[in-house]
Amino acid sequence: MKKDFLTGTELTEGEIYKIFDLTKKYKASRKKNAFASILKNKTIGLIFNKPSTRTRISFELAIEELGGRALYLSGDTIQTSRGETVKDTACILSRYLDGLIIRTYKQEEVEEYAKWTSFPVVNALTDLLHPCQALTDYFTMYEVKGTLEGIKVLYIGDGNNVCNSLIILADILGVNIMVVSPEGYQPSKEVLSLVKNKELVKIDTQPLKFIPEADVIYTDTWVSMGDEKEADKRKKVFQPYQVNKELLADAKKDFIFMHCLPAHRGWEVTDEVIDSPNSIVYQQAENRLHCQKALLHFLYETL
Ligand code: CP
Ligand code: NVA
Repeated sequence: MKKDFLTGTELTEGEIYKIFDLTKKYKASRKKNAFASILKNKTIGLIFNKPSTRTRISFELAIEELGGRALYLSGDTIQTSRGETVKDTACILSRYLDGLIIRTYKQEEVEEYAKWTSFPVVNALTDLLHPCQALTDYFTMYEVKGTLEGIKVLYIGDGNNVCNSLIILADILGVNIMVVSPEGYQPSKEVLSLVKNKELVKIDTQPLKFIPEADVIYTDTWVSMGDEKEADKRKKVFQPYQVNKELLADAKKDFIFMHCLPAHRGWEVTDEVIDSPNSIVYQQAENRLHCQKALLHFLYETL
């Protein structure tokens, strides 16, 4: 049976650790092409309705390094941009391709593609979720800290797609996550209602509240793709949540700073923090490649 990766809730804790083990192997053997046949004779389409640097490039490389072919389908060049339905597009693409990786606005759209296709569909970011990002982020914390047991993640800023996905995977992995966002910009109620282990998730509005106990301090842009019209308003609302040296005065010495990138330097984070020895943002970005190879391996190994 085909497996999709649309929300992250498809995976059990054990499956996530299986993907982490594979990620380590892929990372250690990048140039040796140790498992290069998983996607042999397979073509995977990438439909992107929003820009991307990391996700697109890491998935294209991952597919090719696994022996497959990646076909980039910019949203404005296919007929969905002129109103062709997702159902018709999905049914046609099902006859050409072996998988789809989709970045778009509505979560329902990736779910609709998954419904009408016979191959794996992967969510490469929607307004609601960014599960590939969160999967890599927990791998990176595991790699740096050696274990996820007992670690406390603090997310400061907009309760957006990245934050929602960090919450979903924290619930599966048993990780404590604390979210600090202004009123009106808190994580999705729908996502919070799905959380099974409610004691793992704390939500607050006070920027300094959890700083001293955080092992990981994570932020993301205040203006996600699609929010551009609200940029001026958001800049004002989020200013007290900027991750800067003063905000971190009482942080643990060995906390790690994470950001999914792209960063808006001088907005949600200052240069002195993102460029500090505590920051692991480039390692985090590199791991997208290794972790997505492992995810594709997991999705395709039984097909
Ligand atoms: N973090 C992330 O998804 O980056 P891109 O928008 O560049 O893909
Ligand atoms: N929250 C950001 C993430 C970018 C990778 C956005 O949706 O634009």
